[in-house]
Amino acid sequence: MRHEAFWMPYTPNRAFKAAPRLLARAEGVRCWTPEGREVLDGVSGLWCVGAGHRHPRIVAAMKRQLDTLDCASNFQVGHPGAFELAERIAAVAPPGLDRVFLVNSGSEACDTAVKIALAFWRAQGQGQRTLLVGRERGFHGVGFGGISVGGMTANRRAFGAAMLRADHLRSTWDPATQAFVRGQPAAGADMADELERLVALHDASNIAAVFVEPVAGSTGVLVPPLGYLQRLRELCTRHGILLVFDEVITGFGRLGAMFGAQALGVVPDMILFAKTVSNGAAPLGGVIVRRQIHDALMHGPPHLAELMHGYTCSGHPLACAAGLAMLDVLAEEDLLGRVRALAPHFERTVHELASTPGVVSVRNLGLAAGIELAPSPAGTGQRGAAAQAAAFDLGVLTRAPGDTLVLAPPFVSTPAEIEQMAERLRAAIVQTHTEHPEGSP
Ligand SMILES: Cc1ncc(COP(=O)(O)O)c(C=O)c1O
Repeated sequence: MRHEAFWMPYTPNRAFKAAPRLLARAEGVRCWTPEGREVLDGVSGLWCVGAGHRHPRIVAAMKRQLDTLDCASNFQVGHPGAFELAERIAAVAPPGLDRVFLVNSGSEACDTAVKIALAFWRAQGQGQRTLLVGRERGFHGVGFGGISVGGMTANRRAFGAAMLRADHLRSTWDPATQAFVRGQPAAGADMADELERLVALHDASNIAAVFVEPVAGSTGVLVPPLGYLQRLRELCTRHGILLVFDEVITGFGRLGAMFGAQALGVVPDMILFAKTVSNGAAPLGGVIVRRQIHDALMHGPPHLAELMHGYTCSGHPLACAAGLAMLDVLAEEDLLGRVRALAPHFERTVHELASTPGVVSVRNLGLAAGIELAPSPAGTGQRGAAAQAAAFDLGVLTRAPGDTLVLAPPFVSTPAEIEQMAERLRAAIVQTHTEHPEGSP
């Protein structure tokens, strides 16, 4: 097979094409290469397949949908699946958040939320509130709204001139006190007070919204200190700033509750979701909006759209069928309960990796963990990339933002499968460490 034409997303294309890693089939927590070699899915696709690959109920629902209605726009007409999905998502969201805008990805969800925030303030007669506040090492997708409010340098570097106005809180990551903390760090709630500094600098009257991930996933699983999100909520309320949780990773079960907002006990004004909502079986995402924000925008001439925004495939029938089936599976198989039951074993297992040579940090919450390696003097990310490739060869899929290896297994993994994933990861770390010992590139 030729590999030249496909410009792969978020992939070092030249290195990949020199040594391709391909998956041809998947079921449950396992994938297989075209040669038939088994690879345990330690990252749920890409934080997507909580219910496991090719869940029969989701596959059947999607097949039924394709046999009934394959394509229907939601522009000025609608189809039942989108209305039903929105109602059911509203029913499991925190109280007060019950209006749902459907999109196809996390990035679209982020840019949609930015637009809703800006349009909301304009409708309130406060159109000067255009500054967005994000957080260093935050990831909010790859749209221009998302990279502006996001805090990942590499995502911003090449596109600086095109960004929206944004400022950033510092990351909650503190290696001196958090390197091997299990769950939420006890100290550090006061890091949220930095919002006061940004308010003093810019004035609250200019700030539209604060965007944070409850747990920063894409930069290597950074867990918020106890009380941090509560404090951020208090400060946003005090200054009249909208609080947006990007739950693209934490939404639909990863922390043992439907949303991180519920798992961590803080209600934002908007929640972004994608990934697990459809079990990754179809592109689907969305924004859950506080009723008052939605209602404030329901004005203007009745023949015009109240929000000039939407995507051809917003609420696509196939994606909605997958989402509805996933909600059924989450409830019927008590997947949230399974995550809560598995999380302590997962925590113990990943923290056993702390003694592996080259590991400088292990952190976790729910079914998400980051295992960080000491960087190579030759450059950040080299050891991570080498360990990720070795892990694939040894039979476990992981992700390596920088030098952190991520484990985010499907919710349906057994304790034995978690241990197997961790063992294969350990072997990959040891192999990488042997090939690139401390002090060598
Ligand atoms: C927190 C967060 N927001 C947004 C996104 C972007 O989602 P997508 O890749 O579906 O556009 C991601 C993707 O990993 C994410 O982790």
